Amino acid sequence: MDIHVVDHPLVAHKLTTLRDAGTDSPTFRRLTDELVTLLTYEATRDVRVEDVTVQTPVSAAKGVRLAPPKPLIVPILRAGLGMLEGMQHLLPTAEVGFLGMIRNEETLEPATYAERLPDNLTGRQAYVLDPMLATGGTLSAAVEFLVQRGCSAITAICLLAAPEGIARVEADLADVDVPVSLVVAAVDERLNEHGYIVPGLGDAGDRLYG
Ligand code: PRP
Repeated sequence: MDIHVVDHPLVAHKLTTLRDAGTDSPTFRRLTDELVTLLTYEATRDVRVEDVTVQTPVSAAKGVRLAPPKPLIVPILRAGLGMLEGMQHLLPTAEVGFLGMIRNEETLEPATYAERLPDNLTGRQAYVLDPMLATGGTLSAAVEFLVQRGCSAITAICLLAAPEGIARVEADLADVDVPVSLVVAAVDERLNEHGYIVPGLGDAGDRLYG
């Protein structure tokens, strides 16, 4: 898996405020939106485009436009929903599909409770949105599902990741033969005994919607 930790002072600044337990929900949502837009800029460097020529008022100009089929954005409910608009600012024409997944807080294993994706994912380029990559179980399951359905390239955009979770995703996806990459604002120190990222930012779903 290709891993890109976005090293940018604005990303670090906004992430620091997100981590602060004193940041209220409205501010947390706004900062998430802004951070995701910055991460999207990095995550879409490989978005598929095709050559076009347009007519300016002066002459013909060569350029590019997004190539069909449309990129697919897949927020993982619930917390990933808080990242959707931030990505849509830069990819307003992308199609959106939803996966509802929840981690069992005792076993730490994910369960899928909802799926609303386009029928045909063959050859699609997908962007998975989930703020936290903790044990990695949720992201592995989401990527495996999208690969089974035919996606041909998958980029996960996360706010925070734990080293243990990245290692698990890499092991789980070792045999996956489509390119998978991760764009993340920071890789933290570790997971604690409850499966929370340390230092992390707490429960992203609760801080967005609780
Ligand atoms: C959190 C988070 C990820 C998942 C990460 O969701 O948003 O989806 O846990 O954990 P993992 O890497 O150990 O699998 P949660 O299950 O709390 O659901 P929510 O988004 O509805 O709050």
